[in-house]
Amino acid sequence: MVGEAKWNALSFEEVRSKSEKFSEDRDWNQFHTPRNLLLAMVGEVGELSECFQWKGEVAENLKGFSDAEKHHIGEEMSDVLVYLIRLADKCGVDLPSAVLAKMIKNEEKYPAHLARGRSTKYTELERESASKISQVEPERDSENQPEHEDKHVSELGKYEYWSSTYERELEDFHEEGAYGEDWFSRHTGRGRLRKFIEDQIINAFGQSSIGLLDVGCGNGLFLMEAAQSERLTFQELLGIDYAMNAIEVCRAYQEKKLKNRDWMTATQEGIDRIKFSLMDFLDNSLETRSFEVVHDKGTLDAMYLSSDENLGLYMRNLARVLTDRGLFIITSCNLTKEELMRLFSPPVFRSAKLLDELSHTSFTFGGQKGSAVTTLAIELTPGAPPRT
Ligand SMILES: C[S@@+](CC[C@H](N)C(=O)[O-])C[C@H]1O[C@@H](n2cnc3c(N)ncnc32)[C@H](O)[C@@H]1O
Repeated sequence: MVGEAKWNALSFEEVRSKSEKFSEDRDWNQFHTPRNLLLAMVGEVGELSECFQWKGEVAENLKGFSDAEKHHIGEEMSDVLVYLIRLADKCGVDLPSAVLAKMIKNEEKYPAHLARGRSTKYTELERESASKISQVEPERDSENQPEHEDKHVSELGKYEYWSSTYERELEDFHEEGAYGEDWFSRHTGRGRLRKFIEDQIINAFGQSSIGLLDVGCGNGLFLMEAAQSERLTFQELLGIDYAMNAIEVCRAYQEKKLKNRDWMTATQEGIDRIKFSLMDFLDNSLETRSFEVVHDKGTLDAMYLSSDENLGLYMRNLARVLTDRGLFIITSCNLTKEELMRLFSPPVFRSAKLLDELSHTSFTFGGQKGSAVTTLAIELTPGAPPRT
């Protein structure tokens, strides 16, 4: 039945206005205080519960119940719903908007790829996801240069890992219609990161319309969030990724968001303007225009976990695609602020000026201190990048 309307189209507003009239006609408004309505609703929940009492486990579609019993259950459910809507009305809660917003929040709390087929609470899922990140964190030594020889070469540095990750995400999306998660969003907080980035862009370029490149855009959710900015318009928003499955996820999400207008604050034009392209950022012949802003959330981490050669190619191409004194915004869980700033030092970049920093909660798992996720805004002036 997914995607097909099964019930009469009845709006919350219709129920709200009918029950308002019902109580006005009877002069019952005086009794309909929030507390009374809540208690009345709980009473109705009790009556609904009675229908199921002593029946053992009840089968789907109330198999074994008589028509009269089914009808009665429908009545009790209606009482609960009518009281709930009346309660929301009396509390000044916009219930339809609250329901939609809560459903989006639930999607974020219970990402399909983590929660599928399990009744595990979201706090436990968060802990699992945190441990997954902390397992790939290399040893840190903020006093010295990053120890490239010792670094933990992990799955996250491999193409196959990303290809299969987004293949699963695409399957989940087609089966359940639920969006996945972008990297670190639990730790950065989407709204907080977006505001930080907007502030940095406005400080650097004022309100002028600029281009932003998202390197290793994954499922594209970061760009779809950025596109909804009410403070900025972008001349170009380009997301690139080397995994075709990631680009397919981006395009599927973009299409759904455009069709359903399902993010309440969505500026459709912003989302429509994003382009997603299949590109390997390490490619020798990477051809894109120059961007005033390059954003990376988790992709440099993946490079860092692959090889020193890849890290070098990344630096070279970053220098190619960023305009002079361009803004590079990086979120990493592998490298400290000091390590990151050292990476962007000469000769590849003539100068690297730290403009601002957003720190996020570090998390502890199994008694061990986990990753501290760091976001930096750096003004980079490319030097003479070595051409190969
Ligand atoms: C940790 S994920 C982050 C995804 C996304 N930025 C987010 O915030 O959800 C790293 C991403 O980098 C992509 N990636 C890794 N190496 C790449 C390369 N050489 N060129 C382009 N994308 C790459 C992976 O496919 C993956 O989508």
